[in-house]
Amino acid sequence: MADGASPTVLNPEVVKSATANKQGYHSFQFGGFEFARDEYFVHIKWPKGKHTMEVDRFLRAMVRDIGWGFFYGWIFFDDVFGTHNHYGTVDIYAGTYDQGCKAAGIDFIQRFTAESVSKAFETISRDWISEGYDPLSAPLETGSPMGSKGKPMQGPLLRNFTPAKRMLGLPGDQPVRSDDTGTPINRAFEDVAFDQPDIEPEPGFEGQLHAINLFDHIARSDVTWNPSMTAITKASICCVTSEEHMLPVIHGNDRNEWFFQLSDEIHWRIQDKNTGNPRGMIVMKAGDVCAMPADIRHQGFSPKRSMLMVMENGSPELPELYATGKLAPYPIEF
Ligand code: PHB
Ligand code: FE
Repeated sequence: MADGASPTVLNPEVVKSATANKQGYHSFQFGGFEFARDEYFVHIKWPKGKHTMEVDRFLRAMVRDIGWGFFYGWIFFDDVFGTHNHYGTVDIYAGTYDQGCKAAGIDFIQRFTAESVSKAFETISRDWISEGYDPLSAPLETGSPMGSKGKPMQGPLLRNFTPAKRMLGLPGDQPVRSDDTGTPINRAFEDVAFDQPDIEPEPGFEGQLHAINLFDHIARSDVTWNPSMTAITKASICCVTSEEHMLPVIHGNDRNEWFFQLSDEIHWRIQDKNTGNPRGMIVMKAGDVCAMPADIRHQGFSPKRSMLMVMENGSPELPELYATGKLAPYPIEF
């Protein structure tokens, strides 16, 4: 579906099967898509095709897609299936950005209200996630989603954002300070020095000026590939994250984004956004900075838990400027 076309926007409710399968899971129909899972796999069908994904990959991607409000641009759950955010409406596609599926004529895309997709994805995730598995945790820090359905999951599917009221670390920064939550330093960061900054306010400014050790904050994150803290000033968005194993989605950009590798290393696979053809591999080591262009998709692999800072320009006019070539896909001409 070309940008600029105005496809029909669907607003269906997800339809749950009347009975569960042998493994205890329901199947779901949403628009032209059907979703089913068994012990190991998720099976997705659409009018002219079908696709199979590992259940872990699918659930890690789906829960982040909901939590991120479909993020910027494209979220590929894998090379074939994913969502494209139009900020208010969302495309669900299968094979649309995969050359093989397109050549075979089995690609399929439909546009929905964002609200209906959120609800559908949440309903499916809740049916398919059992207690003991947290798709936001690193694989070594949670149970497996494989096998038959267990006890229903407890607690929220997503981690809510908690807005700080003041500079973190100042009295009344409530509701929570990371080091007040009791979240321990992650095993991967036990060797990091967490010196606290020296703060010397001018007389009269005591209690108003503060600084924190950001490493101390990120080291306590209990999730991976999911923002631990986000600072937003108008359209300038800055997220810090703790990354282990692989980014469970392949992100297709609709604008530039900047990566600052704060510790350890991440290997990024960069592909052409539309075809998936390889464009490069970047190994970012502590201190490295790079800009992901607006015309690519990328996936990160973090062999050891690492710290990453991501900066985005959230201006709503950007996708159109890049899609129409009015802005070059990269931020700097060297
Ligand atoms: C990204 O797609 O750029 C991305 C997503 C989640 C992260 C880091 C980077 O934790
Ligand atoms: Fe990205």
